[in-house]
Amino acid sequence: MGAVVAGILLAGCGSGAPGAGTPDMIAATSSAFGHPAILGDRDPATGQVEVSLVATAAKTEYLPGKPANVWAYRDGSAAADTATIPGPMLQLRVGDHVTVHFRNELPEATTIHWHGIRVPPAHDGTPIAQVPVPPGGTFDYVFTADDAGTFWYHPHVKSDSQIERGLYGTIVVDGGDEVRADDDRMFVLDDVKLEATGLLSERTAPLDLMLGRQGNVLLVSGRRAPSFETRPGARERWRFVNSANGRYFNLRLPGHTFQVIAWDGGLLAEPYETETLLVAPGERYEVLVTLDGAAGDELALQTIHYDRGHDIPDPGPQDLLHVRLAGPASSPVPTRKWGTFAAIPVNGQTPRRSLVLDEMEEGLPEPRFTINGQSAPDVPPIVARSGDVEVWEIRNDAPMDHPFHLHGMFFQLVDIDGVAPAHRGWKDTINVPMKKTVRVAVRYGAAGKWMYHCHILEHAERGMMGELMLQ
Ligand code: C2O
Ligand code: CU
Repeated sequence: MGAVVAGILLAGCGSGAPGAGTPDMIAATSSAFGHPAILGDRDPATGQVEVSLVATAAKTEYLPGKPANVWAYRDGSAAADTATIPGPMLQLRVGDHVTVHFRNELPEATTIHWHGIRVPPAHDGTPIAQVPVPPGGTFDYVFTADDAGTFWYHPHVKSDSQIERGLYGTIVVDGGDEVRADDDRMFVLDDVKLEATGLLSERTAPLDLMLGRQGNVLLVSGRRAPSFETRPGARERWRFVNSANGRYFNLRLPGHTFQVIAWDGGLLAEPYETETLLVAPGERYEVLVTLDGAAGDELALQTIHYDRGHDIPDPGPQDLLHVRLAGPASSPVPTRKWGTFAAIPVNGQTPRRSLVLDEMEEGLPEPRFTINGQSAPDVPPIVARSGDVEVWEIRNDAPMDHPFHLHGMFFQLVDIDGVAPAHRGWKDTINVPMKKTVRVAVRYGAAGKWMYHCHILEHAERGMMGELMLQ
C-alpha cells in the first residue's frame, strides 16, 4: 500500500502541478453551485472557438483537510489557472468550429473523447483513431458542434483508472432553445473510493472489477453533499451527467417530480414527468424541476436503490445535494416549445445486427466481458455503410445491467423485449437491463472507425468493446 501511494505522490511532483482549487471555500449557501468555470475562448470571432486544455496531476480535498492526489483538467490559456474536478466546461453554440489545444502533463499517455459530440473520427480520441498523446505531448482536436445538448469529455485509454482519478469535464452546446427556467445548473454525478486518509484507494476488490468500481463517497460535480440556495417556487433546469465508473444513480427529490426535457441527443419533442430518474454511467438527462416549498425549507436530492444485478444490497436513500429555499417566491413563465423528433423508419425488412453481452469468470484471474462470445480486441469489427439504417439487437445474457454506448452517432430505442418505449428521443448511451434484449435503430454516421462499448469502465477495459467500420 505505502509503495503504491508513494508512486502517485512522485507522479504528482514531476509535473510541478498546481493544486486543484478548494471549491468548498465557496460559500455553502450561495446560489452559485452548478455553474462550472467555462474554458476561455481565445478566438474573438463568432462561430470560432479556440481553447486550451491541460491534463495534469493535482490535489483536491474530497474529505476536508485531507488532500487526495488526483488527475484533473485545467484551462491552459490562463497560466495561473488551477485544475478542477470536473474540468472546466466547454461551452459552445451549434455550428461553432472548435479547436482544443490539448497538452498532456500526466505521467502516462492519454486522449480526450468528446462523448456524444459527432466529431470527425480522427478526433474522437479513441486508440483506433489516434496514437495516445504521450507525457509532455500535445494534440489539437478540431470539430464542429452539430447538435445542441449536454455532453462530456474524458480520456479513452485506461479509462477505468484515468476517469476515476478525476479526468472528466462537461460540454454544453446551446442551440438557442426556448426553455424558460430561473436557473440552469450542471450536476456531474460520480463516486470515489477513498481511504480514511482521504487518498483515492489503490485497493481493487474483485467486486470492483465485476460491477465497476463503487466508491464509498458520492460526489456531485466533485463535491461531497454540496448545497445551494434558490427561491421558493423557482423552476430550474438541471443537467445530469453520470461520470462514475460503475454506479447507477436513481434520482429523486422527495415531494417533487422531474419534468424530463432532454436525453443524450438533446431536447425531446414531448417532455414527461417522473418521480425517479435512473441515470446509468455515461448517460445525460436534462430536467425542469419546480422547487416548491416555503422560505427556510431544505430539499434533498437523493439516489435510491436500483437493482442492477449481482444482488448488490440496498443501502437506503443517500443524499447527494441540498437545496435551501430562501427569498421571495418565484413564478416562472411556462415553456411552450420543445424539440422535434423524427423516427428512423424501421420495419421487418430493416437489416439486423445481433450483439450478445455476457461475462466470463470461471477459471480466470479476473473477469472478462464479452460481445458475441469474444472479448476485445478479438471482437470482429462490424463493417457497414455510412447512411444505412440498421437495427441493433443487443441481448444481455449477463446477470447485471450494461450501459451500451456507441460513438459518432445517435440512435433511437425501438423496444425492450418487444415493448415499445413510453418516451422517444435520441440516445448515444442506453442501459441494457440484465437478461433483456434492447433493440435500437441507427442511421450510420460519417465514414471511419467508431467504437462501441459498455460504459462501465472496468467492463470496457476488460473486453466489452468493439469497432464499427463505416465505408
Ligand atoms: Cu464516454 Cu467510448 O465513451
Ligand atoms: Cu458492462
